Amino acid sequence: MNILRILTIAGSVLVATTGTGQAADISVGEQQHQQYCISCHGSEVYTRQDRRVQSRNGLSAQVQRCQLALDLNWFDDEVENTAEYLNREYYHFNN
Ligand code: HEC
Repeated sequence: MNILRILTIAGSVLVATTGTGQAADISVGEQQHQQYCISCHGSEVYTRQDRRVQSRNGLSAQVQRCQLALDLNWFDDEVENTAEYLNREYYHFNN
């Protein structure tokens, strides 16, 4: 096993460990989004001129509405993972 491989493994363990904390897990959010959320709308609804979501709280509320409509029964942290992913990727709210 070479040193690069060892470093890669150490890195993944670190990410896995820190991922269990309070902060939203963006990569999980991205996977959830990929799996459940792109059947009706692509990313164009997040970036269009007259988009509906106007705040970070509003973003969580909208993710909540869409996942409820889909009967996904997400926990709050799953909603937050996806909301935070969308915020980083498209909305860029600071609060
Ligand atoms: C069954 C179809 C459908 C699916 C699947 C769906 N949505 Fe939506 N979503 C909508 C509709 C309809 C709107 C409102 C579009 C409009 O106002 O023109 C919307 C709007 C949104 C918006 C607001 C866009 C804006 O204007 O700022 C967000 C954020 C969003 N959805 C997130 C999600 C997420 C996260 C998921 C996965 C859990 C998801 N959607 C899955 C139908 C869906």
